[in-house]
Amino acid sequence: MNPTNIPPDGARASLLDRTLDQAQPSEQDYLEVLDLTVDFDGFKAVDGVKLTVTPGDLRFLIGPNGAGKTTIIDALTGLVPAKGTAQFAGRDLLGLPPHRIVRLGVGRTFQTASVIEGLTTLQNLDVAAGLHRSAWSRFRRRRDVPEEVTEVLETIGLADLADVPAGILAHGQKQWLEIGMLLVQRAQVLLLDEPVAGMSAAEREQTGQLLMRIGRKRVVVVVEHDMEFLRSFADSVTVLHQGKVLAEGGVAEVQANPAVIEVYLGAPAPAAAEQAGTTSAAKATPAARVAKPASAALPTQAKPAGREG
Ligand SMILES: Nc1ncnc2c1ncn2[C@@H]1O[C@H](COP(=O)(O)OP(=O)(O)O)[C@@H](O)[C@H]1O
Ligand SMILES: [Mg+2]
Repeated sequence: MNPTNIPPDGARASLLDRTLDQAQPSEQDYLEVLDLTVDFDGFKAVDGVKLTVTPGDLRFLIGPNGAGKTTIIDALTGLVPAKGTAQFAGRDLLGLPPHRIVRLGVGRTFQTASVIEGLTTLQNLDVAAGLHRSAWSRFRRRRDVPEEVTEVLETIGLADLADVPAGILAHGQKQWLEIGMLLVQRAQVLLLDEPVAGMSAAEREQTGQLLMRIGRKRVVVVVEHDMEFLRSFADSVTVLHQGKVLAEGGVAEVQANPAVIEVYLGAPAPAAAEQAGTTSAAKATPAARVAKPASAALPTQAKPAGREG
């Protein structure tokens, strides 16, 4: 357990292990967002959003470009000021500076990977893990890799690439490293902004598996457009449009929602589209179009009508 001559570390390590165990959220440790509003000089990029996500419910957040998805993540991580309330495990997030939000267990990734390219995979994880280490142990010369970092390397599938510079990792691998950095920071809420954009089919599949694994005990919100990916991995979906929640529910339910179909495919709105009860006429044509191209990515922007497919 302690092969090196660093006596105090045994106690420290077991304390760390216990802390890690305790870091697993309980059922009550959910994310609750109420009436979230972000106003950019009078333009409401996020407008009264309500969002509740519990651990184990892999939530996808979709919506056309400009719907406010990234702004929600920015608001929850302290990067833009917001009104309303946002709590994780009963603790308020809004109004806190970003580093304090991270310490409450809320982490995010960016659309473009933000790993430090000149450091190795392991060093990137180590820097991220340093957040939970005392200044003393962080600055002390370290001789071995903490167990939690080794575990995370395995989880994200980069154990064999631990010692290569992050700059030479493939696009997908950089995203996995970013997710790994959140894991070593013991994030219990992971807000992932388009993590599979630009990935190959194989990388998407691996990412989906990774998200399912880490989402079992954590709150995971994934911003994504690809319908096949969503169908394969989402437990639930929230659809955002013009800063507001347009629909929420299971994948099939949301996919059959006429308002969602209209936003995504530019289909003419049936008069009754906004009513909860949909007529078969309102559903038939556009729903069939959504259901059919299983591999089609939903447009990242509401495409001009007639350009779909
Ligand atoms: N800092 C900002 N200042 C002004 N408007 C912004 C700012 N950030 C985003 N927006 C606007 O807010 C809207 C939502 O943007 P965003 O959250 O990035 O959408 P999404 O991620 O869903 O594509 C867009 O209209 C965007 O132009
Ligand atoms: Mg975005």
